[in-house]
Amino acid sequence: MELRLSRAAAAFRNEGTVELMMRAQQLEREGRSIVHLEIGEPDFDTPAYITAAAKTALDEHFTHYAPVPGLAELREAVAFDAARFRSLPEPYAAENVVIGPGAKPLLWNLFAVLLDPGDEVVFADPAYPAYHAAASYLGAKALTFRLDGAHDWRPDLDELAASITPRTRAIVLNSPHNPTGGVMTADDLAAVAALALRHDILVVSDEIYSRNVYGAPFASIAQVPGMQERTIIIDGFSKAYAMTGWRLGYCIAPKAIVHALTLFANNTYQCVATFTQKAGIAALRGDDSAVIAMGERLRRRRDLIVGGLNALPGVHCALPGGAFYAFPNAAAIEPDDVALSRYLLEEAGVAALGGSSFGPAGAGHLRIAYATSSAELQRALDRVGPALAAYARANVATTKVHSDADTTI
Ligand SMILES: Cc1ncc(COP(=O)(O)O)c(C=O)c1O
Repeated sequence: MELRLSRAAAAFRNEGTVELMMRAQQLEREGRSIVHLEIGEPDFDTPAYITAAAKTALDEHFTHYAPVPGLAELREAVAFDAARFRSLPEPYAAENVVIGPGAKPLLWNLFAVLLDPGDEVVFADPAYPAYHAAASYLGAKALTFRLDGAHDWRPDLDELAASITPRTRAIVLNSPHNPTGGVMTADDLAAVAALALRHDILVVSDEIYSRNVYGAPFASIAQVPGMQERTIIIDGFSKAYAMTGWRLGYCIAPKAIVHALTLFANNTYQCVATFTQKAGIAALRGDDSAVIAMGERLRRRRDLIVGGLNALPGVHCALPGGAFYAFPNAAAIEPDDVALSRYLLEEAGVAALGGSSFGPAGAGHLRIAYATSSAELQRALDRVGPALAAYARANVATTKVHSDADTTI
């Protein structure tokens, strides 16, 4: 029998992280030692007060279907926490919140309820790959605006303005940003808000790294006057509480959109595991000291890796203001970031993702997830330094052979 997939499913590809991780694991099976800098997840354990709440919930038999949009108690806790954390002028109601199995599926579901084929959505280049994957699966058109590596990965606002058309349904923001670690300034947020208001379009604000900031306190575009009602926030527990495997996220949106997302859930995954939601309630009600402690450790790791990268000849790395990614430019050594990523894995045993996996503007860069121990980061630097120097020497030698050959001809 000839198996035929739908055209949309046939177009699916693995995200770059998965491909690299699979090769890294293969090398490990062959006995190689690999430093993993490819995975976007904190290496910390989920704080004990959160796992304890899940265990209690299991013992108390919270093992049945939950209400489709989430447990009322969790929706209330999210609504309260979200408005307080962002110092928003208006409180959210529980009816503004839908709980989902992670931020990623919620992004997909949100795109599905917002976009018809031919509609347009605008987001950054480079960007988290799910935006492009979801838009193209739905037959929507993705338009991008560049982030500027020379200016801390801030958005090119002229390109953003130029990409808006009458078919634009939403601008997607992600600050702090994956893969660059860039953070939008108050001026950037105000400028995007002005565009959204002028063109009467929604902003989808992916704030999954809202608890991972190292400088000024986190700022959301929902704080800009007039924006709360047209901002859809995507956030969750994965990055803030080291809960990536729990699959727990949420979307805060106008009630009509929450209603559509609830119908979507009812027709697909139904609901999120009940005991997991109980753990989410504990996380939000906790005193945040574990989150703050994780943030301090991440800051030290950031300083270690960025300092180490900038000490390497031919490498330049902006200091990321948030998330847990460094995005060094290594184009002076090798402009083909995929080739460089492969070289570092095969020759140095360091798994770092090529920046072009996140869009053309990521070319010439590597994405380094520094959510691993300082010892591992130091081990990576100790390996990458000599490997890049050898690569650069070999390149110079090849170039010289070529140019000698040119002169003979
Ligand atoms: C920008 C961005 N949004 C959303 C997600 C998805 O997070 P979750 O684990 O909640 O699905 C990620 C995960 O890497 C991310 O980087």
